[in-house]
Amino acid sequence: MAQAASQQQQQLMEKLVALCKRRGFIFPSSEIYGGLNGFWDYGPLGTELKRNLKEQWWLWMTRWRDDVVGLDATIIMHPRIWEASGHVSTFSDPMVDCKTCKGRFRADQLHEIPCPRKPSKRVSECEGEKTEPRPFNLMFKTIVGPIESEENVAYLRPETAQAIFAQFKNVLETSRQKIPFGIAQIGKAFRNEVTPRNYTFRSREFEQMELEFFIRPDEAVEAIYGEVARPAGPGHPGPPQPNWGWQMWHQYWVEERIRFYESIGLPRAKLEEYWQKPEELAHYARACVDIQFQFPFGTQELEGIAARSDFDLSQHQRYSGRPMTVFDEELRTAWPKLEPSRQQRLQERYYQHRLGYLTRMGEPRDKAESLARQDADLLAKGYYIPHVIEPSAGVDRLALALLCQAYDEDQAPNEKGELETRVVLRLHPRIAPVKVAVFPLLKNRPALVEKALQIRDLLRPWMNVFYDDAGAIGRRYRRQDEAGTPFCVTVDFETLGEKGPELKDTVTVRDRDTMQQTRVPIAELPSWLQERLR
Ligand code: GAP
Repeated sequence: MAQAASQQQQQLMEKLVALCKRRGFIFPSSEIYGGLNGFWDYGPLGTELKRNLKEQWWLWMTRWRDDVVGLDATIIMHPRIWEASGHVSTFSDPMVDCKTCKGRFRADQLHEIPCPRKPSKRVSECEGEKTEPRPFNLMFKTIVGPIESEENVAYLRPETAQAIFAQFKNVLETSRQKIPFGIAQIGKAFRNEVTPRNYTFRSREFEQMELEFFIRPDEAVEAIYGEVARPAGPGHPGPPQPNWGWQMWHQYWVEERIRFYESIGLPRAKLEEYWQKPEELAHYARACVDIQFQFPFGTQELEGIAARSDFDLSQHQRYSGRPMTVFDEELRTAWPKLEPSRQQRLQERYYQHRLGYLTRMGEPRDKAESLARQDADLLAKGYYIPHVIEPSAGVDRLALALLCQAYDEDQAPNEKGELETRVVLRLHPRIAPVKVAVFPLLKNRPALVEKALQIRDLLRPWMNVFYDDAGAIGRRYRRQDEAGTPFCVTVDFETLGEKGPELKDTVTVRDRDTMQQTRVPIAELPSWLQERLR
């Protein structure tokens, strides 16, 4: 049974890949030269799909909120950024070479990857002689300027997040935001993945949508509000409250992100929360939840939501020598009003947290103690380094999840009334590349064509419209079904008033999912469609 299911899932992927190529969603990069493993191009429909989902993310995460602002930073940054973030020293995957087939594989995925020589076997099962695993840094290197030397080495960013940390102070000072607030960014990221696979799922060039949401350390929250609100149970904790500690913020963002995915067509039943176990967490992380999606090739991560403590800003403070502390007037006012015992307790907790971080980063004990003491003293004066909650999603992975979810086949009558298999992408109207297609019933009737072009121009300011007059109407519907277009508008002889005055200036609107047709007056068409596309 399980084998049949997995064969079916594999076939689904094959059909989806073929559809994406046929309809212009996704092409292999540099295909005319044989392609480049791990690189993909988006065709006309794929480009629109990606634009729509990035737009939705931006609306949810930035425009519709008062407490998040945007950033658009460079891909190549000062190489010290990647030393501070830990990417130079630790951003690597374990790699093994096969001396027999000369393949290179991720050591932790040998049981999943087919052997290049004998694809019926996994690399872990084949007889090829393998080397011991060794770390392979995933960052792409480049040279800045005309001289190829070690000191001119720079990296293509492996994540968008670090630019947000590096620009934290500039944004804070110019945006009139106060903690808690976030900085959002969408942009390219590059990782020299050892084994890119599962279509676009693991690519070497991809896009990320990341939010760094800066919050008060719990000690500051307690000093100001007398207590730190913590989650009472699972589920969305409601609108943000000033007394929230990091756990509430973390849970809030996990639930917000799931709501976002639901709003663009991924059902909750296909999304899973994976709470990383303590031994899986990065040393600085207090918690991390992967939102996973049930892809046809397995349940895999779509997005990670990490509570990263004050690690990133602290690292940039140490490496750049620039203070990353913020001054919090509410904390400064609240502190002197606290009982001395509570002041002591909060300072001690803060001191221990800072000491732990500094010693883990290799500061000698004396220096770590003295720096941690300074930090604890600063807390009492209203200064701290903000903590961070980071929802980090991949655009390409999300596009793939949406396409997998949308792919469907059903039965529809052809021109002769016979039932045949219809391939349809049931994309949510919010992210569908084309919102409406407009057809004249016949392309050799100038009055029909003229009216259809007028309707195209009427709708264009409001949505992405596709005009098509080629081929039988049934075939035009099928093409739009495969493109995921939610509505098709047909201008026919009724529209021209040739079959009586009651239907003059009305059109047929055909629904992609139900295939039902509704007569709508042209004048009402923009609002009729907009209501259904929201
Ligand atoms: N700043 C945190 C960070 O980058 P990550 O889990 O490495 O965390 C976040 O990446 C998201 O970026 C992933 O959940 C995934 O959606 C996307 N992503 C990461 N590596 C990818 C790859 N090689 N190809 C496509 N998407 C990728």
